[in-house]
Amino acid sequence: MKRLFRVLILPLLLGNAAAWVSFPKQPQTSTAILPFLESARKLGPVGTFRSMKDQDDVLSAAKQLSGSDPRPADVPLQGVHRLVYSGAPGASSGKLFGKVAGQVTQTFVNSTHFINAVEWGPLKIELLARRQRKNAKQLDVFFEETTIRVFGQPVSSKRLPGTSGGSWKYLWVGVVEEGSNRKLVRVMETPSLFVLEHVLDDNK
Ligand SMILES: *[C@@H]1O[C@H](CO)[C@@H](O)[C@H](O)[C@H]1NC(C)=O
Repeated sequence: MKRLFRVLILPLLLGNAAAWVSFPKQPQTSTAILPFLESARKLGPVGTFRSMKDQDDVLSAAKQLSGSDPRPADVPLQGVHRLVYSGAPGASSGKLFGKVAGQVTQTFVNSTHFINAVEWGPLKIELLARRQRKNAKQLDVFFEETTIRVFGQPVSSKRLPGTSGGSWKYLWVGVVEEGSNRKLVRVMETPSLFVLEHVLDDNK
């Protein structure tokens, strides 16, 4: 047993220890939220209008953000959140046709439901969805109804099964002070990168 230890186990432990010590340290490249938000805003809201390199840079910066709320999925959401940046290839970034994009918002109706909307002139496309906490960092989302409005009036509406949708995997959530505003900022993968902000009303 002693021999086995000396011949087999000891070298293994020492080998591992050596590997541990000499293992290259991850570079400390944590990103602060404010400069991240500024660069995401500069490139956004529609990431696919930018170069692949720009899109990759935003995504890798998002993955290196530090100082998030440790339980982002439990942060209560209310009011209107505006899209700052989206890496999504489709219309969820607001992209309608060619280089034309609408304004994307996420409006929280209550503790379970929210509306994703794309607005372009008098046209508004809404997607009602339900959200459900999966774990401390992730929510599942289920699509329930689409509505098309022109000048606010519904012209078409369609119920969806409500059994499929997507998920929000949070990379960062927290309050940011930018200029004279305090904002709740959310950075998540759906799996495309989404950055949204909600101006907090401090007059209350
Ligand atoms: C939240 O709003 C949705 C959509 O209007 C509604 O269907 C749902 O019953 C509401 N839930 C609660 C808990 O109020």
